[in-house]
Amino acid sequence: MTFEELIKLDIGTRMIRATSQTEIHRVRSHIPPIYQTVNFEYENVQDGLSVFLGEKPGYFYTRDGNPTSDLFAQLVALLENAEAGLAVASGMAAISSAILSIVKPGDNIISSKNIYGGTKNWFSSQLSSLNVTTHFVDITNMDEIQQACTEKTKILYTEVLGSPNLVIADINKLAEFARKTQLILIVDSTFTPPPIIQPLTLGADIVIHSTTKYINGHGDAIGGAIVCSAETIAAISKVVKLYGGVISPFNAWLSIRGLKTLALRLEKHCSNAQRIADFLKEHPKVAKIHYPGLPGHPQHDLAQTQLNGFGGMLAFEVHGGFDAGVKVMNAVRLCSFTTSLGEIDTLIIHPASTSHISLSKKEREQAGVPDGLIRLSVGVEAAEDLIHDLEQALDKI
Ligand SMILES: Cc1ncc(COP(=O)(O)O)c(C=O)c1O
Repeated sequence: MTFEELIKLDIGTRMIRATSQTEIHRVRSHIPPIYQTVNFEYENVQDGLSVFLGEKPGYFYTRDGNPTSDLFAQLVALLENAEAGLAVASGMAAISSAILSIVKPGDNIISSKNIYGGTKNWFSSQLSSLNVTTHFVDITNMDEIQQACTEKTKILYTEVLGSPNLVIADINKLAEFARKTQLILIVDSTFTPPPIIQPLTLGADIVIHSTTKYINGHGDAIGGAIVCSAETIAAISKVVKLYGGVISPFNAWLSIRGLKTLALRLEKHCSNAQRIADFLKEHPKVAKIHYPGLPGHPQHDLAQTQLNGFGGMLAFEVHGGFDAGVKVMNAVRLCSFTTSLGEIDTLIIHPASTSHISLSKKEREQAGVPDGLIRLSVGVEAAEDLIHDLEQALDKI
C-alpha cells in the first residue's frame, strides 16, 4: 500500500498495516535486518503460487524458513567450508535432528564416551526409547570402535575435544574408518570452531555446533547449526520443520553478529588459555591440568597437527578434593561462576558441587570428574587479571 492509501485508514488499521510494509524498509542496510516475522506475504495469487510451486525463491512461514535464519546457516556453512547449512534452536536441536534424519528403529550408533552430558542423556533416554542403541567407546581406541561396529551401526559420533579431560578425537583416522565401514561421521565441533578445525575438510560427514557458545560468543542467544552436503541438509530440514526446533530470527541475528568477531575472539581465547595453563601447571595447589596446548597432554602431538590453536577450554584438579574446589569457587572474583562456555568473559564451574552433585564420589570418579576438578572457559579479558584472580583464589585453599 502507498503512503496515501495508508493515511486514509483508521489509525489502528493503519499502524497494523504500515508496520508490515516491508517495501518501506527495503534499503541497503549495512548490517543484515532481522526478519522478525512469522509469515510472508505475496503480491497476488500468481506471485504466491510461484513461491509455493518453487518457481520463484520466497518464504511462507518461519518454521519452514526465514531469511535471517537462512543467512546465519549460510554463514556457518561458509565458516566450515560446507556445501550447505541449517540453523536450529539449540545445539541439542542440531544433534537430535541430524541423528533422527538418519536412524531407524533397530539401528545402532557408536559415540565417544567423552561428550557433553546432555547429548549422552539424549542418546541414553530419548534415542534408546526409539530402539536405537548407543555404544559408548573411548574415541582414541580404534580397536574398541571396530569391536562396537556391527551391520546395524549407522553413525560414528564424537566431539573434537571431549569433556572433561579434553580428549582429542583424531578426525582423519575416524573419517577413514567411517568411510571403510560406511558409517556417517558426525562431529560436534562446539569447543573448536574455525579456524581451530574444519572437520568436513578432514573427512567428517556432518558438523554440529551449539552456536550458543563460541559462535555467538556473547552469552545472549541459544542456537545450533548443522553443516554438511546440501542433500543431507534437505533431509535434516524435514525433521526440523516437523519437530519444530527452529531458531528464532532474533537469535540468528545475534549469532550473525557473533560470527563477525569469531576469529578475533578465538585468537585471544587460545592465547589466554595457554598462559593460564602455563601458570596452573606450575602451581603447588594444582594436582593436574588438562589442556591440549601443554606438552604434558597425552595427545599434544595430535593437537599440534590437527588443531590451529588449542582452544579456550581447560580443566584443572586442585589438591584437597571437594572442599578445596568449593573454596576456589567461593574465592574467584573475576571469573564468573556459571555454566556454559565460549563467552567473552571467563566462566568457571566446579562439576562435583554443581552438574555432578547427584552422583556418588565413586560415580564421579568413573565419569572422569574427580572432586577437585574445576572447568574454566577462558574469556578474552587481560590474561594477567585472570591469572591474579586464580592466584588469589588458590591461595585460599
Ligand atoms: C559440546 C556441546 N555440544 C552441545 C551442547 C548443547 O548445546 P545447547 O545448550 O545449545 O543445546 C553443549 C552445551 O553445553 C555442548 O557443550
